[in-house]
Amino acid sequence: MAGPRKLIAGNWKMNILAAEGQALAGAVGNYAASAGPLDCDLLVCPPATILHAVAEQLSDSPVAVGGQNCHAEPSGAFTGEISAAMLADVGATAVILGHSERRHGLGETDAMVQAKVSAVLNANLIAIVCIGETEAERDAGQTLAVLRNQLDGSLPSAASTEGMEELTEVNTVVAYEPVWAIGTGRTPTEAEIAVAHNHIRACLEKRIGSAADQIRLLYGGSMKPDNAASILLIDNVDGGLIGGASLNADDFCAIAAAAVS
Ligand code: 13P
Repeated sequence: MAGPRKLIAGNWKMNILAAEGQALAGAVGNYAASAGPLDCDLLVCPPATILHAVAEQLSDSPVAVGGQNCHAEPSGAFTGEISAAMLADVGATAVILGHSERRHGLGETDAMVQAKVSAVLNANLIAIVCIGETEAERDAGQTLAVLRNQLDGSLPSAASTEGMEELTEVNTVVAYEPVWAIGTGRTPTEAEIAVAHNHIRACLEKRIGSAADQIRLLYGGSMKPDNAASILLIDNVDGGLIGGASLNADDFCAIAAAAVS
């Protein structure tokens, strides 16, 4: 069976002010409009401050817009936080959750990520769940165990999904982002990426059966125009989650052009 259609997603992180965002979104939107029928889905995840403006700007374009995080609760006394419903309200269709910069930089645990994933699915948004090992974990031979534990801990359990949508290939994306490859210019070998992605697919199959075959598994970590084509050809790599290169429209669009479903 053919794999899922590829997804190329840009994580702008805590970069980009309004004017730059308009230029970047405009350039990506123009690419999507002029490149002919795209062979992949495109998503940009701007900072929350400009999400609404970018979503408005891209409303007639095939480029979707997502958030980078949200709170697990739908509303309430959580100063400074943003709910999944709020992201949906201003045009987001997806939310990145459990990014390593939040897990390792801000102490987000699997349980916190799991609660956020549930909130995102409840708001009928797509959850892009990030997992990945640190360099020390890889050196200690723990990569596959770490990935399995993060998946088990971060995806909603059967119990907590009662009354809400179960994980499906439509509402769930998993991003494999080795922590040591993010922003460093280093990437795992193609064989290492294949091992990790095959393992993630097998873990998901154990959980939801053959529907797992259509869950998109993104690779993230120093993906650039010059390595994208070969990474995107690896079995079970269904797209990319791009950080630094997504801030440059030419680079991001070159990566999109390398994605053949
Ligand atoms: P870089 O592409 O800058 O390595 O970042 C990857 C990332 O963290 C995407 O979420």
